[in-house]
This record gives sequence, structure tokens and C-alpha cells, in this order.
Amino acid sequence: MKKVITYGSFDLFHEGHYNLLKRAKALGDYLIVGVTTEQYDETRGKLNIVDSLITRIDNVRATGFVDEVVVEDHMGQKIEDIKKFDIDVFTVGSDWTGKFDYLKEYCDVVYLERTRNVSSTIRRIEDNAIVKIGIVGTGRVAGRFPQEAKYVSGVTVSGAYNPHGEHAKEFADRLELSFGEDDYDRFLDKVDAVYIASPHETHYEYAKIALKHKKHVLCEKPMVFRRAQAEELFELSKAQGCVLMEAIKTAYSPGFNQLVMMAKSGVIGEIRDVEASFTRLTDSVLREMTDAQYGGAFTEFGSYTLLPMLKLLGREYKEVRFDSIKAENGIDVYTKASFVFDNGLALSKTGVGVKTEGQLMIAGTKGYILAKSPWWLTQSFEVRFEDPNKKEIYSSKFMGKGLRYEISDFARAITGDRNRGYKLTRGESITMAGIMEEFLKQERCSE
Ligand code: CTP
Repeated sequence: MKKVITYGSFDLFHEGHYNLLKRAKALGDYLIVGVTTEQYDETRGKLNIVDSLITRIDNVRATGFVDEVVVEDHMGQKIEDIKKFDIDVFTVGSDWTGKFDYLKEYCDVVYLERTRNVSSTIRRIEDNAIVKIGIVGTGRVAGRFPQEAKYVSGVTVSGAYNPHGEHAKEFADRLELSFGEDDYDRFLDKVDAVYIASPHETHYEYAKIALKHKKHVLCEKPMVFRRAQAEELFELSKAQGCVLMEAIKTAYSPGFNQLVMMAKSGVIGEIRDVEASFTRLTDSVLREMTDAQYGGAFTEFGSYTLLPMLKLLGREYKEVRFDSIKAENGIDVYTKASFVFDNGLALSKTGVGVKTEGQLMIAGTKGYILAKSPWWLTQSFEVRFEDPNKKEIYSSKFMGKGLRYEISDFARAITGDRNRGYKLTRGESITMAGIMEEFLKQERCSE
């Protein structure tokens, strides 16, 4: 019996897929199809898969050409499968010509002519009306967004808002956007969604007005500095049928999600301690150093360091204590925030004027997970045990500046898949706002 194998995402199943499977089957007697998991697609930079794995498998099976389906979830699996199933022919469409020649060592490799003018990518664009995103604020962070959005299908960055018209226009020209506006209402009329990257303390008002205009909101971290404001914005987004997401890029990245899943899988036993550090020495003239009310290390980087704690120990901490080293203007150049949970501890270290190793350490009853700097752009982490020889190393891709992952989730939440909130839940965003509020109350009101 001649065995054939092929692989693909088979998203939004189309005629090209059907033709390929038909011809693949004709190459032998028994056809095995490997369908990729969403996580694997993300790690290889293929964002925005629309159909669930089950739907994609069902569609592949429904052709009637397929004898067996396997799930492809890691690099190197093709060789494993070819050996395991004793495959005679590996086949794939002609868009991959040459890329799989390395498999010739194990079996025949056949590239089948690709069907013209149809692809999942084309379908995704046709199916989902393009979401027009406008950027609120035109500073350093905002400038990275348009470039990253280019990697996400279904979105376009159309314009920018800044109350100073000349800044808005200069930014729009530089980044080749259609418009720069200084009137917020007029700006909102031209977009479906906003990415808020203005100074921290303005987020709340801009987000609220945008939601009232029924615009979806992706808001830079920290979204707001008051728990009640976060609750209010999420209530409003629900009432308006809009998406509201906090833009903490780590939360949406494949590597960090893999790390969280690994920690939760029990491989290191019960999680008892989460320690995360993030420091970046910052120029004394920048806002982080000069804004006496909302600048400083914890408000700037706390969203990153709190994230693994909330994911792994939950939101119900019993106590928090902040210890800071301050500059003359009162901002914290270094802050340690210590948390006590019922059965665990956590420590967040953030700095703008003190440098330390930026690492994430998750300690459990059977072992620990260590992600080295820059753990917030998670590319690799180690699982370690009492026995140093048992060490396991995991790696994952983190592409570009990483904003593409949050933009991709945002776009998918807007175009229908509202269940994607698990990567950063409303509850987690609300708790973070509450922690920021406590910090500011303790550290700034006394000034
Ligand atoms: N394929 C094909 N003809 C097309 C599209 C895909 O023969 N018009 C083949 C691919 O070469 C591959 C298989 O179908 O062997 C599964 O491809 P997949 O990547 O899932 O489909 P695409 O439509 O190419 O997806 P995307 O646009 O997301 O890259």
C-alpha cells in the first residue's frame, strides 16, 4: 500500500484545498493529512486563523479523500510522522516548491500545482470587512503600531488623532496614514476602532468617548489608574457591543501563553512564588521621569510584572506592600511590590533609574520555570528540577515588536470570535487597575 502525507492549516476551506487533497490521494492508496494547531500556526507567524481546529479537521474529512488526520503542533514533526507512518510520498502545493526537499532523504517529495486565485488569506480579507483603526496619540509607542498592523489581515490603520493638529498631520504623513485629526469626534467618525497610545492619564476619557461612539478600543497599558474606571469602561463596552482590550503585548504572545500553560500543567507542582522584574534605564527628560503624578517605574512597567502573577496565582491577593526608591521629584525610580496570597507569594521589581536582571521565576513544589531577559518578549524558558540533569528548554517565536499578536486578537474579537478574551481577561485588567490605584494612593498622595 502506497502511503501519502500532506500538511496545512486548511482555514476557511476552499477549492484550492479540495483540489490539493484530491490529487494528493491520487498519488497513492492511503492519505494522511496533518492539520496545524492554532498555537503552532502562531509560533510560525501565521496569525488570524479563523476556523477552530475541529472545524478545519471536519472540512478536511468531509472531502472523502482522507483516510487519517493527524494534528501538527511542532517543528520537526513531519520527519517524525514520515517515519512513524512509513510514508512513501510527501506532497504539498507548489507555493512550497523546494522548501521540503530536505524530506527527500525519507520519502518522495511531490509539489502539486497550486490552484490559482484562491487562498485562505484572500478569503479572510473578503469575509471580514477591513477594520479601520485610528491611533490616539502620536508619540513613541504609537509610531510602532502601523508597521506591526501590516502583518495582521483584516485591519488597516487609517489615521491618527492628536489635539495639536500639526503633530497629528506630521505623524500621519510620516507613517503614510490617510489623515491626521485634531478634533476627536471627527476622528472617531472616520474609524471603526481606536488604539489609544496617548499619555496614561488621558486613556480613560478617550476610551469612554470612543465606546460611547460605538468604537472598539485597544488601550495601551496601564489602561486606567482606578479600579472603578476599569469596571465602568468594561460595562460600557458590553452595553455598546464593543470590544475593549488592554494592550499588554506579552499577554498575547505565543511564547508567554505557552509558558503559562506549562506552569499550569502541574509540571512544577503547585505554584508558590512568582517573581518578575522589568527595568529600563530611562533618560531624565522623558515623561516617565518627569511626570510627578503618573510617571515612575511601577506605573510604566508594572503591567508586565503583574501579568504572570495574576495568571498564575490569581486575582485574590491578601496583602500588597510597595517599597520604592524615589527621585527628587517624587517619582519611583525603583519599586518592589510584594504580594501575599493564601498559598503563595509574588514579587514585582520595576525600575527606570535602577538596573537589575529582567527575569521571570516561577517556583513550584516540584520544580521551577525560569524565563530570562527579555522574558516579556518570551522566546524561550526553562523548566528545572531538583535534579539539574532533568532541565527542559522550550522556545517559541516572537516576531517583530510583538504588537502584531495583540492586534491580531483585537481584530478577531471584533470580527466575531469574542471568546478570545482568555489571553488577558477583563478581571485581570480590572485587578491591575486596582493595584495601580493602591500604589498611587500610597506613594503619591502623601507628597
Ligand atoms: N493550496 C493549493 N492551492 C491554493 C491554496 C492552497 O494547492 N490555492 C494548498 C497549499 O499549497 C497546501 C494546502 O493547500 O499544500 C494547505 O494550504 P494552506 O496553507 O492551509 O492554505 P492557503 O490557502 O495557502 O492558506 P494561507 O492563505 O493562510 O497561507
